[in-house]
Amino acid sequence: MREGKGMAMVTSDSAASAPSWAHAVVTGGAGFVGSHLCSSLLAQGATVTCVDDFCTGTPENVAHLRGRTGFTLLRRDVTEPFDVERPADLVLHFASPASPADYLRLPLHTLETGSLGTRNALALARRHGARFVLASTSEAYGDPQQHPQSERYWGNVNPVGPRSVYDEAKRFGEALTIAEAGSNGTDTAVVRLFNTYGPRMRGHDGRAVPTFIRQALAGEPLTVTGDGAQTRSLAYIDDTVRGILAMAASDLRGPVNIGNADEITMLDLAHKIIRLAGSRSTVEFIGRPTDDPAVRCPDITLARGKLQWAPAVSADEGLARTIEWFRARVAA
Ligand SMILES: NC(=O)c1ccc[n+]([C@@H]2O[C@H](COP(=O)([O-])OP(=O)(O)OC[C@H]3O[C@@H](n4cnc5c(N)ncnc54)[C@H](O)[C@@H]3O)[C@@H](O)[C@H]2O)c1
Repeated sequence: MREGKGMAMVTSDSAASAPSWAHAVVTGGAGFVGSHLCSSLLAQGATVTCVDDFCTGTPENVAHLRGRTGFTLLRRDVTEPFDVERPADLVLHFASPASPADYLRLPLHTLETGSLGTRNALALARRHGARFVLASTSEAYGDPQQHPQSERYWGNVNPVGPRSVYDEAKRFGEALTIAEAGSNGTDTAVVRLFNTYGPRMRGHDGRAVPTFIRQALAGEPLTVTGDGAQTRSLAYIDDTVRGILAMAASDLRGPVNIGNADEITMLDLAHKIIRLAGSRSTVEFIGRPTDDPAVRCPDITLARGKLQWAPAVSADEGLARTIEWFRARVAA
């Protein structure tokens, strides 16, 4: 574990003996993952600047933080150079459309955010002498031919398929982040997040968990793509945030996989959500998207060993919490 620059070590729920960051910049901070990172960092005593252009996130995601001492929300598109007013010691670069529905709708913006946006976020970290963490993705492995996926696997990505705008932007972002450390000595890290779910996902963002929950709560059929035999490994947001902050607090460069190694088929996930929601919905099979990966499961040996991190929230528990959050919003 590294010391925060000139700061005392603190103990917190999310990262025992993590450095206490003075000022963290979270790009994409008004999105699903970013908003939870902002909350966690503020809870640890950091000042937080959330930078977002709201292309897929919303100010509502951080409405509970507005007015809190130490929280600033900046509307900026990170594809343009940007800066923050006070010295920063941590930059978490999470800006990017992330759901297939979003990046297929915003292909050029996704490519530019992964390339120009990463360049600008790295430049910010360099100017401030800050630790930098890139949110990369299991999509870097594409439709994997190695299972589970360890960080040593180079992936199987279609460079010109519809998903390439996201996959290749992230792969370029990884290369840029590693090169920045080598060329300019910036203290950088790459985390590869596998599917994460939890409160503040959008019911219509096209990802399986929010789609199934929305449909189950409305009593509509759950639309499972293909025959539903394709697998994903789902991590609850609290576990993911803990893993990201452990990576930030470490000396590692990465890439390091952060995800839950419990694999589930999409059909089993649909039935589980129907059961947990107490719904009478049925399942309907629909066409499978192009280049949809058949399997997805992280090898998390590295995170377990080097970060002493492992997921702690079971699928039943995490899904139940997420269903309750969606139910409360439907009722509101
Ligand atoms: N949620 C997951 O399962 C998952 C898995 C792997 C990787 N990730 C990565 O984590 C990050 C966050 O994902 P998420 O699920 O929270 O998605 P999200 O869409 O909820 O959040 C992304 C945020 O980035 C903002 N953004 C996008 N382009 C921007 C730009 N050019 N300038 C400023 N802000 C911009 C959006 O408005 C949004 O608030 C992404 O980088 C994504 O690739 C997420």
